[in-house]
Amino acid sequence: MKIRKVVIPVAGWGTRSLPATKNVPKEMLPVYKKPTVQYVVEEAMQTGITDVVFVNNQNKRIIEDHFDYNLALEAVLERMGNKEMLQEVRKVAQMVNIITVRQKEQLGLGHAVLCAKEVIKDEPFAVMVGDDLLFDHEPGIKQLMEVALTENMPVVGVVDVPREKVSRYGILQAEEFAPDMYRVRGMMEKPRPEDAPSTLAMVGRYVLTPEIFTHLENLAPGKGGEIQLTDALQLLAKENRLLAVKLKGRRFDTGDWVDYLSANIYFALQDKALRSELIENLRSLLPAS
Ligand code: G1P
Repeated sequence: MKIRKVVIPVAGWGTRSLPATKNVPKEMLPVYKKPTVQYVVEEAMQTGITDVVFVNNQNKRIIEDHFDYNLALEAVLERMGNKEMLQEVRKVAQMVNIITVRQKEQLGLGHAVLCAKEVIKDEPFAVMVGDDLLFDHEPGIKQLMEVALTENMPVVGVVDVPREKVSRYGILQAEEFAPDMYRVRGMMEKPRPEDAPSTLAMVGRYVLTPEIFTHLENLAPGKGGEIQLTDALQLLAKENRLLAVKLKGRRFDTGDWVDYLSANIYFALQDKALRSELIENLRSLLPAS
C-alpha cells in the first residue's frame, strides 16, 4: 500500500523563535530563499506523498496561501517578463494537494494528529514536524516509509543526541535488531538526562497507522498537560507494534537559533552566485585569531 497523506501540525506558537514569530508563523521564517515549511512539503513530495494535511489555527492561514496561486503577483511577474521567477512561484502551488483542518485549541502534538483523523480515515499516513529539516540523503520520511511498508508496522525516526539535550525530545528505550533499526520497548517524553533510557531522540518524522487514533482518543493529558503523541506511541510499543529507524542525513532544528542560522548559511553556500562573497563576508565577521 502507498502512503499518500502527510499530517503537518502547524498551529503551535513558535515560542522558541520569539520575537521573530510574534506575528509571522515560525513555519514561514525563511531558510535562505524559501519558507521553512516548503522544505518539509518538498521532502514529502519527493517521497511520493500527494496530499498534505495542515493542522492549523485561524491566525496562520498564510501557510496554506503559500501553497496556492498568487494570481496578482503572477500578473506582475508576467508583465515584467520575469519568466524564471514566475515559474518558481507557480511551481509551489502545483506541488501537492492542500487540505487544512483546524486545531481549535492548542492541546499538544497528539491532539494535533487526532484532529486529522477524519481526513486520514483508514490509511497509513506520515506525520512531519516542521521544525526538523533533513538533507543530504534520501528524504527522511522515505527512509521510514520503506521500513513501515516492508514490516507492516508504524515507524518513528530517531537520531542520537548528546545526553545533555535529551530533555528536549521524546527518548526511546529500544533494541537494535538490524543496523540502525530498532524495536521500541518504551519511551519517555522530555526526560531529565539522568532518567533517559537512551540518547535516541524522536525528531519529527513518523509513519503511523490509524490505530494511533484510538490510543490518542483515550489518552489523559500527559507531560505539560498536553495530549502527547509520545504517550500514544508508548501504548503501541507496549503491544510490540512500533519500530524506529535512525535517520541518515544532516539535520537542522529550525527552532534553535544556531541550527536555524546554520541552515541559512548551508543553503546560501550551495548557491554559486553568492558563495565566494558570502564566505568573504563571514570571514570578515570573525575576530582575527
Ligand atoms: C515533539 C514531541 C517530541 C519530539 C519532538 C521532535 O516535541 O513531543 O517527542 O522529540 O517533537 O521535534 P515538541 O518539540 O513539539 O515540544
